[in-house]
Amino acid sequence: MSQTKRISIHGQWSSRWAFILAATGAAVGLGNIWKFPYIMGQNGGGAFVMLYLACILLVATPIFIAEVMLGRRARRSPVQGMAVLAEEESAAPAWKYLGWMGVVAGFLILSYYSVIMGWAMAYVERAMTGSFHGLDGAALKSMFEAFKADPMELLFWHSLAMLITMLVVVRGVRAGLEAFTVLLMPALFVILLLLVGYGMSTGHFVEAFSYMFTPDFSKLTANSVVVALGHSFFTLSIGMGLIMAYGSYMPEKVSITQTALFVVAADTTIALLAGLAIYPVVFANGLEPAAGPGLVFQTLPIAFGQMPLGVLVGTLFFALLTLAAWTSSISMIEPAVAHLVEKRGWTRVKAGIWLGLGAWLLGIASVLSFNYWNEFKMFGKTFFELLDFTTSNIMLPLGGLLIAIFATWMMRRETSFAELGLSPRMYAVWRALTRYVAPLGIVIIFVYGLGLLG
Ligand code: TRP
Repeated sequence: MSQTKRISIHGQWSSRWAFILAATGAAVGLGNIWKFPYIMGQNGGGAFVMLYLACILLVATPIFIAEVMLGRRARRSPVQGMAVLAEEESAAPAWKYLGWMGVVAGFLILSYYSVIMGWAMAYVERAMTGSFHGLDGAALKSMFEAFKADPMELLFWHSLAMLITMLVVVRGVRAGLEAFTVLLMPALFVILLLLVGYGMSTGHFVEAFSYMFTPDFSKLTANSVVVALGHSFFTLSIGMGLIMAYGSYMPEKVSITQTALFVVAADTTIALLAGLAIYPVVFANGLEPAAGPGLVFQTLPIAFGQMPLGVLVGTLFFALLTLAAWTSSISMIEPAVAHLVEKRGWTRVKAGIWLGLGAWLLGIASVLSFNYWNEFKMFGKTFFELLDFTTSNIMLPLGGLLIAIFATWMMRRETSFAELGLSPRMYAVWRALTRYVAPLGIVIIFVYGLGLLG
C-alpha cells in the first residue's frame, strides 16, 4: 500500500491550524486551571513545578511528537492504527492492545472529568448571581463544602456537562469547533492575565512567585514524582491515542514538530498563569495550598467578591473554564468513537450516545465519592481519587512508554525520519529523547514512585 495515498475515512483537518486548534483545545482544560494548581499545592510548590516542567520537556513532548506521527502514518483510529503499523513494521499484532488501553483510559477519564466540568458550570451560576460578594476564605470554603456534599446538585451539573459533550461528539468533533477554539484560547489567556494582575495588587505576588519557582527538593515525595509525570501526560492529552486519532486527520505537508511545540507552549503557559493567578490569593488570605480539588473554587471567588466588576469577571472566568473543559471532554472518547465507527460500522451518533451514557453512569460513582461514599477508600483513596490516580499516573504514562518504544524501537528509522521531516540534527535529538530518555525516565519513576521494588 502506498503511504501517501492513505487517507482517514473520518476526513481530514482543513488546515494546519485545524489540528493545532483541536489539539490545543484538548490539551488546555481543567488539567491546567483546576488540577495543576492544586496538585502543585499538595506537593509543596517549586520542586514539583520544576519536576513537572522537566517531564513536559524531556518525556511528554517527544512522546507527543511520536504519537502524532503514529497517527498520521496509520490514518486510522488507535486500535486499528496500531494493528496496521505493527504489520507494516513486522512487529507483534499484540500492539493493538496499546490502542485498546487508550480507549479504556479515555472513557474512564471522561467519567470523572464531566463531574468536575459540572463544578465549573455550577460556579458560573454562583458568579453570575453575585454569590461571592464580600465573602472571605472561610465562607467560600463552606460554600464549596456544602456544594460538594449535595449529590443531587453534583449529579445535575454532571448530567448537563455530559449532555453537551455528547452533543458535540455525535456531530463530529471537527464541525464548528475550530472557530470556537480560536476565540476561546485568547480569551482564556486574557482573563488569566487579568487575574494575575489582580494577584499583583494583593501584595502577595512575590511570595506566590517564589513558592512556584524556588524549588525545595526536600518537599518531594516518591508520590510527587509519579504525580508530576502523570500530569505531564494528562495535561497534554497524550498516552491514550487521542493525539494519534487527531494526528490521523492531519494533512501530509504539515510539520508535526512545529505544531506539537506550539501546543506544548500554549498548554504550559496557561497552567503557569493559572498558578500565578491563584497563589497570590491563597497567600493574601492565609489559605491552605494543599486544599485539594476545591482549591480554585475556594480561592479565586475571594478575588471576584472584592474586585470591581467582580460579577462580570467571575462569570467570564468560570464560563471560559467550562468552555475549555468542553473542548477537552469532547476529545476523550474520540478514539473509542472512531474505533466503533471503523470496526463495528456504527454511526457516530450511536457510538457517541452509548459511550456517553456509559461514562455518565460511571461518573455517578465519582459524584458519590465526594459525599456519601467519601469514607469508603481503597489504597487510602476515594473512588474519584483512585480513578484519577490510575488513569493519569499509571495508564497514560504506560501508554506513553509503549508509544515511545514502538516509534523508536519497532518502527524503522526511515519511516519516522520521512514522516517527521526534520533536519538530521533535530531528528537525532527527538530520537535520543524518545528512544532512551523518555522510556528510562518513565521506568525509573514507576519503579521508584510506585515502590515496585518494595
Ligand atoms: N488535557 C486535558 C486537560 O488538561 C484533559 C484531556 C483531554 C485528556 N483529553 C484527554 C487527558 C485525553 C488524557 C487523555 O484538562
